[in-house]
Amino acid sequence: MQINEADRPEPLDLAGKHIVLGLSGGIACYKSAELCRALVKAGATVQIVMTEAAEQFITPVTMQALSGRSVYSSQWDGREANRMAHINLSREADAILIAPCSADFLARLAQGRADELLSLLCLARPIARVPLLLAPAMNREMYEHPATQRNLTQVAADGAVVLGVGTGAQACGETGDGRMLEPEELLEDLIAFFTPKRLKGQRLLVTAGPTYEAIDPVRGITNLSSGKMGFAIARAAREAGAEVTLVAGPVSLATPRGVMRINVKSAQNMFDAVVAQAPQATVFIATAAVADWRPAAPSDQKIKKDGSGQTPQLQFTENTDILASVAQSEAARAGRLFCVGFAAESQDLLENAQAKRLRKQVPLLVGNIGPDTFGRDDNALLLVDAQGATELPRASKLALARRLVREIADRMAP
Ligand code: CTP
Repeated sequence: MQINEADRPEPLDLAGKHIVLGLSGGIACYKSAELCRALVKAGATVQIVMTEAAEQFITPVTMQALSGRSVYSSQWDGREANRMAHINLSREADAILIAPCSADFLARLAQGRADELLSLLCLARPIARVPLLLAPAMNREMYEHPATQRNLTQVAADGAVVLGVGTGAQACGETGDGRMLEPEELLEDLIAFFTPKRLKGQRLLVTAGPTYEAIDPVRGITNLSSGKMGFAIARAAREAGAEVTLVAGPVSLATPRGVMRINVKSAQNMFDAVVAQAPQATVFIATAAVADWRPAAPSDQKIKKDGSGQTPQLQFTENTDILASVAQSEAARAGRLFCVGFAAESQDLLENAQAKRLRKQVPLLVGNIGPDTFGRDDNALLLVDAQGATELPRASKLALARRLVREIADRMAP
């Protein structure tokens, strides 16, 4: 039997990872059920540990069913032969994630308390080997209280990773900072946490999506680019430790965690945003499907049919080539800004990509077949540089983005 490489399932993001998911008392425990499912779906094995207060908000039965393992909540648990659940559980873990981490639990961690199983196992963990990640969840006044802020600083100084909080409506009816991050945000943060930081210290600027060129206030010209490849690259680069700015044309995709997004509409807007950001960047990746032309004289009023049967005669002006102009900047020419272009072709990919790389004067050009990728979640890429061409076979856009990020890191290594 022959297995086609492209049909082989991609490894799951958290395959082989064992996570201790600790729940302390807070209404956000309802989100921990979804988080547990998401971790398991991402390939992790999950051991739930709950405080007594957490059990007031969600039952161990629910968490057991979702994790597929029995839940621990007592330091005196007789199931462990050595009666040392805190030692056994903490040594098995690749990471301990406390979600939700209540204000009280945070205070316990800050003090190094050990009078119940969850804080005990956090204290007993081998600190150099088993990371502790915290997802705080509490009322906004509790979150802003100097005692809580002091505790957050203290636990971070003691080696915990504080994942931040969300903002918005709270269970108490108030609005502000202190909500627990959503399960998918926590999952993204955990995956990023485990990713080697190959782009640490780099500042990436990425363009993504289509542009929209107005004909009049109600219509315009755009294209079928979904923005998915550029968004995946922004996410992969952030996972690899880069600071990422994403200049996005009109798409409704969610902004990847930790990425600064600037929304633009037209090619001219995109050019202006890129020119403003480029001086801070060390890598520029142009994935956007920028319109080559715009209507020369867009009407500021809706163009009406006048009943004569005559169609409007549109004149076009060429848009500035954003990639080519950044690639010709002094920083790019001096090697301080690494530029990567994309080429969406319909045929002769290798020849077209090689020609485009030379024309745009970029060290790396990534070719793909436009009709085979627009709007899809998967793609196949051809990397063309001065050394030759490398094929990245069909895979999800996120898997390809992660591979591309590693290829870029290789080329930037001193
Ligand atoms: N690009 C850009 N600004 C433009 C046009 C293109 O930054 N005004 C960038 C794209 O983001 C992509 C690369 O240039 O990285 C190639 O875009 P593509 O549309 O494939 O190439 P064109 O230069 O338009 O060439 P052609 O239409 O002849 O294929």
